[in-house]
This record gives sequence, C-alpha cells and structure tokens, in this order.
Amino acid sequence: MLCLDILTLALLAPAVVSSALHPSRRQSGLSGFIQSESTASLQGVLNNIGANGTGATGASAGIVVASPSKSNPDYFYTWTRDAALTVTMLVDRFIAGDSSLESVIQQYITAQAKLQTVSNPSGSLSDGSGLAEPKFNVDETAFTGAWGRPQRDGPALRATALIAYGNQLLSKGKESVVKSNIWPIVSNDLNYVAQYWNQTGFDLWEEVQGSSFFTVAAQHRALVEGSTFAKALGETCDGCDSQAPQILCFLQDFWNGMAVISNLANNGRSGLDANSLISSIHTFDPSAACDDTTFQPCSARALSNHKLVVDSFRSIYTINSDKKAGTAAAVGRYPEDTYQGGNPWYLATLAAAEQLYNALYQWKTQGSLSITQTSLPFFQDLVSSAATGNYSSSSSTYTSVTSAVKEYADGFVSIVQQYTPSNGSLAEQFTRDNGTPTSARDLTWSYAAFLTAASRRDGTVPASWGASTANEVPTQCQGGSATGSYATPSVGSW
Ligand SMILES: *[C@@H]1O[C@H](CO)[C@@H](O)[C@H](O)[C@H]1NC(C)=O
Ligand SMILES: *[C@@H]1O[C@H](CO)[C@@H](O)[C@H](O)[C@H]1NC(C)=O
Ligand SMILES: *[C@@H]1O[C@H](CO)[C@@H](O)[C@H](O)[C@H]1NC(C)=O
Ligand SMILES: *[C@@H]1O[C@H](CO)[C@@H](O)[C@H](O)[C@H]1NC(C)=O
Repeated sequence: MLCLDILTLALLAPAVVSSALHPSRRQSGLSGFIQSESTASLQGVLNNIGANGTGATGASAGIVVASPSKSNPDYFYTWTRDAALTVTMLVDRFIAGDSSLESVIQQYITAQAKLQTVSNPSGSLSDGSGLAEPKFNVDETAFTGAWGRPQRDGPALRATALIAYGNQLLSKGKESVVKSNIWPIVSNDLNYVAQYWNQTGFDLWEEVQGSSFFTVAAQHRALVEGSTFAKALGETCDGCDSQAPQILCFLQDFWNGMAVISNLANNGRSGLDANSLISSIHTFDPSAACDDTTFQPCSARALSNHKLVVDSFRSIYTINSDKKAGTAAAVGRYPEDTYQGGNPWYLATLAAAEQLYNALYQWKTQGSLSITQTSLPFFQDLVSSAATGNYSSSSSTYTSVTSAVKEYADGFVSIVQQYTPSNGSLAEQFTRDNGTPTSARDLTWSYAAFLTAASRRDGTVPASWGASTANEVPTQCQGGSATGSYATPSVGSW
C-alpha cells in the first residue's frame, strides 16, 4: 500500500510511544522471539480481517484491512495486493496443517468475487480494467478519491492466492467446487494480466508510474501457474500461454548487470529498491534451480542485487551506523524514500532475511552452490576467502558459506526483534534515528512478512509454481496483449 496521495504525504506521523523492550523477550533469544512473534503475528493478521477482527470493525466478511489506523496515515481500506499476499501466507499455513484458517480463506474468496464486480475509477469488469483498482472501502464499495491507479500487480497476486488454495482442493478431489467457486475469479484475473501486462501502471509503493519489476515478475508467475491450473480443470487460458514468455522477456530488461533497476520510469532514483527483494521471495520456487532469468533467491543475480540493495541503506540510517557490509542492517523501501520520514520497514528487513532462507533451501535441495563473478561480492562480504567455483554440499566451502548465510539471514530477524515492542505489535516502519515503531500501527503486511520469513527459516516452503518449466527467454522480446473475456463470478457453497 502506502501512499503517494498528496494529502497523506503532507501529514507526517506523530512520534509513537517508546518501544521499551521487555527483558524476558530479549533473553529468550532468536528462536524464542520467533516463536512468540509468530503467534502475535498470526493474531495480528486475523485481527485485521472482517467481519469480526478486533481491528476490522465495519469491514465485510473476508475483507483484509491494511491496518486499523484511520488517520496519520489512514490505511483503513482493503488493498488488493496486501490482501492477496496475506491470504497466500494463510493458504500456505492451512496446507501446512492449520485447518482453522480455511473459513477465513473462503470468506476472502467470496469477498473477491464481489469486489471484481465493483465499478471504480480504474474501470469496470466489462473490459477487465476495474480489476487493477488498488484499494476499496472496507464495506466493499469503490474508493473514489484521487490515487495512483491502476496497479497491475493486484490481479496477478490474487490469482496466485486463489490458485494455491484451488490446487489444495484439487489434491483432495474437489474439482467441481474449484470450478464453480474459484476458477471464474482466477480466469478474470489471468485474462486481465494477459491483456494489460504491456501497459504502464503504478508500482507497489504507489508512487511511480512506469513498469515495476515486482509487477512484471508477479504477472509472469501468475500466468505460468494459471496455465497449469486451467489445464487441471479442463479449462483454457490461451493468453497465459501466449503472453507468459514475453513477460519473462520483458523482465530481463530490469537487470543492469549488477542489480535490478526496480522501476523503468523517469524518476531520478538509483533503482535499488526492496521491490526486488520482495519479487524474489514472491517468485521463489522450491523446485527451481538458481535460475537468473526468474531471479530465483539463490541466483547470482538475486544475490548480487541483495547486496547492493542492503548496502544502499547502511550509510543513510543512524541505526545502521555500526553495520558494515556482510552484517545485517535495517532495510527500507529505497534509499531516496521520504514517506513518513523515509524509515526502515519491517517487511523490507524481513524480505532480506527471507530471500536468504529461500536460497539456503535451494542449495540444500540441489546439494551444491555456485559462486560466479556476479555473486562473488555478495559471498566475499560473508566469507572473505570466497572464490568462484561450484561447491558440493560435502565441501568445507559449502559448509562455511551456508553457515555464514544463515547467520546473516538471522541477523535481519534479530534487527526486527530489537525494534519490536514487548507486546509484539508490528507497525509499518521503525525510525531511522532510533528504531521507534512509526507510521501505521499493526500493519497486516508486516505480520504476514514475519510469518513467511519464519516459515522459510524452518524449511516450510510453498508449492512449486512451475518456474523451471518457464525460464527460457525468447530470443527477441515483443510487446503484446491477448484480449480477454470477463464474466461476473459468484461463490456458492463450499
Ligand atoms: C461474526 O460473529 C457473528 C456473531 O458471533 C457470527 O454470526 C458471524 O458468522 C461472524 N462472522 C464472521 C465473518 O466470522
Ligand atoms: C512492452 O514490451 C516491450 C517488449 O518487451 C518492451 O520493450 C516495452 O517496454 C513494454 N512496455 C510496457 C509498458 O510494458
Ligand atoms: C560450475 O558449473 C557450471 C554448470 O555445471 C559451469 O557452467 C561452470 O563453468 C562451473 N563453474 C566453475 C567455476 O567451475
Ligand atoms: C503495543 O505496544 C505499542 C508500543 O508500545 C503500543 O503503541 C501499542 O498500543 C500496544 N498494543 C497493544 C494492543 O497494547
């Protein structure tokens, strides 16, 4: 979310209550913190979902509110992006065994069927254009104020959330309920992506109009898994198959040889942005190799980018003043950020950890890691003697490198621990000067980011989305569009 709105920018958050740490939380160490904070985070998410969440009073059933904060900043809306990322996390936990989450997942799906039909300033369902409206009122009506719209990642992220749950139902033989309750919503979103991916829109921070790496990466993933999902249901998604390779082709344009330039736009920024870290964790595929073309977390590209993005925050935040290269640091959105003071964000710092946990999973799965010229600077920060080569899991280099990466990853979570108040609440940001929580309180996405990082740390990973079958870049990139059809979805009984 979060908010280029001029009005919002004008209102800086007041200083927030001090964040004195409860000694017992400190003493419990990182594992103890992760355990207690996971409990607090899951409750924090559920509190922000209607109809009965304590922070979501007035929200319809299944509506995921971004934060209970109604002023300074006002985030009491539902964003398609934040909601979809949050529900993807809930679906993963449901699949991992928390059956209590199924009803809220189903309520979310029912709410999305309604929201798809709500005409809004981005457009309507008839030509799909309304699907990229970034946010709605919590009572499922259109938000009609000025905003950065459209945001074309939303339909892709929602498709991914619904496909994750749909595949789980399919594995239980529940094809007919998937066809009636889930496919019509997913089909609209896939058609949207196939039709509009080659047009500009606003980025995930709602500030830059152009082409955003996160948006393009999420679109590619959605069409790849959407194609497989359609086939499993005996349905078709012609646009998925025709457009996905070209979206992957376009994705390569964001790579500059050392880092991801997160926005292709004329915006006067360096391009280093947690956008790219969040992309890498969103398109993490536990079955994929360390592919550069899909920027897998263990790829040379994603690791080089990780270093440059994290390093860009070292010298600008007071709380990072003692954090030299190779030690974890507080991470914000992008170094030029000034919104609400331009501070570190919990979800960005956690994304830096999560990418590395994912990489560790991938190296373990393939039984080796490689260090290339591109990734060498990343590794040398952690192990100064690192050299290019391929190292099998039986080698001492593999052991020393992976344990250094694990320690580095844990360091980012320790920073979150250091700046989390004793009751476990996670705001949007913590100040660059002294780490006091600031901006919107109880941010749903902060909690979701904590839970996904914690799951990856303990080796719990989502299903494959098919990255290794969709990593071949066409020799020539072409723009394109597949005109889709859109129909009113409805959700019946489960
Ligand atoms: C909210 O609580 C009411 C009263 O207990 C209940 O009838 C309703 O089903 C609940 N709604 C949701 C979305 O859980
Ligand atoms: C459309 O795709 C072409 C080919 O990849 C690319 O050069 C162009 O920048 C894209 N434009 C947008 C707005 O996506
Ligand atoms: C590592 O392995 C890859 C793929 O097998 C190979 O292309 C590359 O040359 C190897 N690198 C080194 C430094 O041996
Ligand atoms: C948790 O602690 C923070 C920081 O001290 C405070 O602002 C917030 O109100 C507390 N939340 C609850 C639910 O007590």
